[in-house]
Amino acid sequence: MSAETPVETLTEQQAQAELQRLAKDMAAHDAAYYQDDAPTLSDGEYDALRQRNEQIENRFPNLKRADSPSDKVGATPSGAFGKVEHSVAMLSLGNAFTPEDVQEFDTRVRRFLNLEPDAELALTSEPKIDGLSASLRYEKGVLVRGATRGDGRVGEDITANLKTLPDIPHRLPEGVPDVVEIRGEVYMSGANFAALNARQIAAKAKPFANPRNAAAGSLRQLDTKITAARPLSFFAYTWGEMSYLPADTQRGMMACFEAWGFRVNPAFIGVTHPDGLLAHWADIEAQRASLGYDIDGMVYKVDRLDYQARLGFVSRAPRWAIAHKFPAEQASTQLNAIEIQVGRTGALTPVAKLEPVTVGGVVVSNATLHNGDEIARKDLRIGDNVVVQRAGDVIPQVVKPVLQARPENSLEFVFPTHCPECGSAAVRDVDEDGKADVVTRCTGGLTCPAQARERLKHFVSRAALDIDGLGQKQIDEFWQANMVQAPQDIFTLQTRFEDNPPPKWLYANGPKDKLGTLKESVKKLFKAIEARKTVDLDRLIFGLGIRHVGETTARGLARHFGSLEKMMQDVRDMGRGDGALRADLEAVDGFGETLLDSLVAFFGEEKNCESVQALLTAGVRPTPLEAVAQDTPVAGKTIVFTGTLVQMTRAEAKARAETMGAKVVGSISAKTDFLVAGAEAGSKLTKAQGLGVTILSEDEWVALASL
Ligand code: IVH
Repeated sequence: MSAETPVETLTEQQAQAELQRLAKDMAAHDAAYYQDDAPTLSDGEYDALRQRNEQIENRFPNLKRADSPSDKVGATPSGAFGKVEHSVAMLSLGNAFTPEDVQEFDTRVRRFLNLEPDAELALTSEPKIDGLSASLRYEKGVLVRGATRGDGRVGEDITANLKTLPDIPHRLPEGVPDVVEIRGEVYMSGANFAALNARQIAAKAKPFANPRNAAAGSLRQLDTKITAARPLSFFAYTWGEMSYLPADTQRGMMACFEAWGFRVNPAFIGVTHPDGLLAHWADIEAQRASLGYDIDGMVYKVDRLDYQARLGFVSRAPRWAIAHKFPAEQASTQLNAIEIQVGRTGALTPVAKLEPVTVGGVVVSNATLHNGDEIARKDLRIGDNVVVQRAGDVIPQVVKPVLQARPENSLEFVFPTHCPECGSAAVRDVDEDGKADVVTRCTGGLTCPAQARERLKHFVSRAALDIDGLGQKQIDEFWQANMVQAPQDIFTLQTRFEDNPPPKWLYANGPKDKLGTLKESVKKLFKAIEARKTVDLDRLIFGLGIRHVGETTARGLARHFGSLEKMMQDVRDMGRGDGALRADLEAVDGFGETLLDSLVAFFGEEKNCESVQALLTAGVRPTPLEAVAQDTPVAGKTIVFTGTLVQMTRAEAKARAETMGAKVVGSISAKTDFLVAGAEAGSKLTKAQGLGVTILSEDEWVALASL
């Protein structure tokens, strides 16, 4: 038997020996890679070993070793790159799918800016490149840092790798601003992708699924020589920090970028009407296959930079730009089974188990079916041939069954009446009008293990605690080993480690070893956990998994309460019937009744309060959000807007006040600091006068806001 013996012909005994050899070899390569930063194999060669190990395990599942390389923590070299905090966040884009969505974008922008319907609004249009975004920082014309997007606030330092790209200049011409941050997309062309995969196959290495994965894999190499050997390209399309802006339009900025030596997309155009956007979209869609690189839609931007500044951002996307996606790619396959997943809120979600099929360059074998009604509406049966689709980064969907090809023995799916994980009754909530919710929920609450486990996964997810090396899979393992049952357990893991039988996968050489021989990756994990004891308050609040608390709401709550203790106290007081407190909270913009009820329900549950308290006791120190701007006359103040504003819309006024650090609320109380009264202000003005609140005219507000 040799490493070349096909997996299909291995006897059980041979397979066992081979798995042992692979585990030993790969552990040695890992040590060389992670601890010594001196890889003994190329990425491709390593992948080939990994793949062979997996193939053997798939054929002989009972032979899978306790120290199997496929269960290793931190298989990707993440953590090996330094972190870079972006001085200006790298944002994502909102999506448009239909011409109506695009029209609405134009209308929304005009409304926000208070433009007349026939006023000119110049827009730009360019392809949305399907690659990875990168930010390049130049100081005094010299490239000093290149970073990935990461979570938008903190990325990874990949300067050395980015410097190998021929499209990325190391120096900018004389006379550029002192600080220039160019942002754009790193991608691999179709031709280069095909050639790379041919080389991978010739080297018996695993081919990449699509150009985007190939670009990502190539960019995140610890060995810069590997990146240099992978042909990557770069289009510039936006910027981060700039000591000054060298132009006053998007078009002007692109012209500068080009003059400075960057490539900008040749299909970038300016238009003056949304119809122009739609025509360009159709034009580029028709050329999509012949462009030579993957794009997944078009990006439209407001051309004037003063408008962009006024429009600002909502959550993580700019109001002044939108991505208009191309239609999803489709394929047909067989629906083998429908499984039920229990989510962190107890929602029972049916998941389609599909015969694996490639859609848009990615192999799809699972797709969400949303809920029971959806299955009935689409008339899906187990065994059906179905059409599946994937739109960009969106989760795959089952579109419909192919009725002409329905097998006779296809089976109707009966939605369970009990939670498959804990056996509690599964019910659909009914609203005041007697209408049943589409979602069926497990009523097990805190006793349902699946809910508890999913809550943990949410707690460590990227937008929440985001602990390096502690992903979904590791949570499953720790859960099964009874080591982590609630969020606070994560932070006491290291101290309990020696007393408990830890999961086998944590060890380098089997469970008998002591802490001294822990895998490097586990030491790293403990370090990462320790580091996350200092976490942004909003991330922690989001991580608690309170219903109706998304990332934006979590930020609002963090800003409002300033600490977990205060939030818990106020919500519990409100739950005990403190009406004045409730009225105050209801007045805060974005805090509706549903949210407040949900907070009360969450903190009304003793176990949840204990869990929060235990996190604090375990040493978790949430850091309050910095006030957006502290040196403004309205920072920390509460403002109410009323009446008709003519110089800016209500939305713009509110956004502006919030960026200046103010809290915008809807009704007047003794706690209101300012009332901005536009034309025809009514009862709020009278009430404010009565309470002695400072009243500003629109002109006074504008003067204040443009400071
Ligand atoms: S503009 C503040 N333009 O799409 C807005 N983004 O889905 C900055 N992308 O994170 C983005 N092509 O990585 C812009 N021509 C283009 C783009 C583009 C691809 C990526 C970018 C962004 C993501 C959002």
